Amino acid sequence: MGIVEGGSNILVNKIYSQADLHEKYGGVVPEIASRNHLKKFSPLIEEALGEADIDLEDVDLVGATYGPGLVGPLLVGLSMGKSLSYSLNVFFLGVNHLEGHVYAHYASREAEPPFLALLVSGGHTSLVLVKDWGNYERLGSTRDDAAGEAFDKVGYMTGLGYPAGPKIDEMSKEGNRASYDFPRPMLEEGLDFSFAGLKSAVARVVEREDYDLPDLLASFQEAVLDTLIAKSIRAAKRENVNQISVMGGVSANSRLRKQLSKKAEKEGLKAIFPPFDLCTDNGAMIAVTASDKYRNRNETSPLSLGPEPSLHLG
Ligand code: KG4
Ligand code: ZN
Repeated sequence: MGIVEGGSNILVNKIYSQADLHEKYGGVVPEIASRNHLKKFSPLIEEALGEADIDLEDVDLVGATYGPGLVGPLLVGLSMGKSLSYSLNVFFLGVNHLEGHVYAHYASREAEPPFLALLVSGGHTSLVLVKDWGNYERLGSTRDDAAGEAFDKVGYMTGLGYPAGPKIDEMSKEGNRASYDFPRPMLEEGLDFSFAGLKSAVARVVEREDYDLPDLLASFQEAVLDTLIAKSIRAAKRENVNQISVMGGVSANSRLRKQLSKKAEKEGLKAIFPPFDLCTDNGAMIAVTASDKYRNRNETSPLSLGPEPSLHLG
């Protein structure tokens, strides 16, 4: 949940992570997620208002995510947002979660359109040309698993729990990245991604042989990152933009940060990463998006807006 003032000044960015509730299932369980959204909404609002030191009456716009994602949690969040705006008699704005990730850069004021956005989260992996705030062209996306999903599935296979990305990031530092020659699917072709084959290759090792965990993880991680980095650089050069900004949970990956920065620089490009608390899912990015669209673009949404689980960007 986030509260912003004057368009992009973040007053509150409160994250209630449900990860521990889902850990034993190895992924997000829709029913549990929906119920917890419902339970946490009111206390979080109270806390957020307290932290920002404002009253509900001071709120002049309510934004909520309407897609993409699991329909249950989307419905809960969207209904809460719409009810709040109705009861306060202020405008409502439905926000595309993916656009919210792009707007993390609007809040941090580091990337200026036009730039290339590499969106890498648990549910999405795509390359988007941000021509301007609100004006996007999708250049490529994953044909199967998202990058974060591949991290989580490999983590599940090797008993690391959920979400596995941060643990793989840490453990890979101790491993040899060249131990396993894992495939880099579609590395030489186009701007789409595919991680299912890589995941299966890791599964075959886990099932059939003794392995050193840090070596396995480091080799897997390197295969994912090589693909993400090569395609981002290819896209930026093709579109003639000199900034590559990374967003979504996987943008917290320390090796991605280091390697992309280094390789981009060699090509005369600049890699930009938002601060950690704006990288992973958070309310402030949604509030900033809603605020800019309302204040600067005169956009609002009708209260009849429904959830769109497979919403795209661009
Ligand atoms: O954007 P996000 O918080 O939620 C979604 O919208 O999906 O991304 C969560 C994903 C998870 O798959 C998690 O394993 C991954 O981001 N992740 C990481 C790291 N931190 C989070 N993956 C690799 N390295 C990390 N340090
Ligand atoms: Zn996300």
